[in-house]
Amino acid sequence: MTILVTGGLGYIGSHTVVELLNSGFDVVIVDDLSNSEKFILNNIEEVAGKKPVFYPFDLRRKELLNQVFDAHKIDGCINFAAYKAVGESQEKPLDYYENNLFSLINILQEFKRRNISNFIFSSSCTVYGQADEMPITEDTPLKTPESSYGKTKQMGEEILKDFATAYQKRVSLLRYFNPIGAHPSAKLGELPIGIPNNLVPFVTQTAAGLRKELSIWGNDYPTPDGTAVRDYIYVVDLAKAHVAALKKLIASEDETVIDVFNLGTGTGSSVLEVVQAYEKANNVSVPYKICDRRQGDITIAYANADRAEQQLGWKADTTLEEALRTTWKWQKYLESRKY
Ligand code: UD1
Repeated sequence: MTILVTGGLGYIGSHTVVELLNSGFDVVIVDDLSNSEKFILNNIEEVAGKKPVFYPFDLRRKELLNQVFDAHKIDGCINFAAYKAVGESQEKPLDYYENNLFSLINILQEFKRRNISNFIFSSSCTVYGQADEMPITEDTPLKTPESSYGKTKQMGEEILKDFATAYQKRVSLLRYFNPIGAHPSAKLGELPIGIPNNLVPFVTQTAAGLRKELSIWGNDYPTPDGTAVRDYIYVVDLAKAHVAALKKLIASEDETVIDVFNLGTGTGSSVLEVVQAYEKANNVSVPYKICDRRQGDITIAYANADRAEQQLGWKADTTLEEALRTTWKWQKYLESRKY
């Protein structure tokens, strides 16, 4: 079976491509290299022992996408290709709506035209906003996200629900909590572009001496140590969930399926706990200062991922420290490449 993986050279995409190849799928990647690098393709081959087909273009180029579907018999798609910087999305909302939604719709048009089913969408726990109760289940009420980035995730979910219902398709909406870590081989990981916005990449660069200190955005939250709490999920665990979700869709006897899964560990960790775990796991020091809260941040979010365990037979079992060890190994690899 051949799976189209858009954004397959990106952070979560590249790890998922490896898991798909390991599970016997053929993979066709479309990635415009806007937030990824060509060497990741070779590294995927080194790690998986197989090379996926790769097309470098922007999914808004309908005619090129059409040619990919002509050239390969595609059986499903995992759609990672999207802009994802929360702050930037506030400055450039139209770029976010155009890129994230037009590319999604272009793929769905091909699915409809060619009668293909099995579509997996990268959503985010941002669709819950600050939930009233923890842990967050898939039935926790959704709130309109503050950022345009978050709104593209919410709108993407709605588009896919309509798509599945109107055309009898199978879709899976995967709501990620906070992905961290790198491949154990240290050949795949998150590529730093500019100053990292996310916590773990910033902590890594601070430990490596590339940043003077970490700014902890707020220690006056109503949490045990005052810093905000998130559910940090190891990227390889996350990648495996995609394969499990895809297999469920393929095996389904129903023509129309709309699956929704929270992908998290079920455990919340505070910013300070992450810093301490990082120092311990890697025997490094992470200097930090406490700053005001970051605008738009929520206090606490962690998942109830029971549905994924029951329906996919999947569970995130890598510890925070193990995941943070892989991040450091990846940093050393990047340094060795003088990245
Ligand atoms: C953010 C997005 C979320 C998106 C995710 C993608 C917001 C409000 N949410 O999640 O929609 O899906 O990124 O990865 O932006 N922190 C610091 N110092 C730093 C960086 C972060 O203290 O330099 C803190 C933050 O305040 C937060 C926690 O670390 O409490 C995690 O932050 P981050 O990694 O940016 O993820 P989220 O904000 O949870």
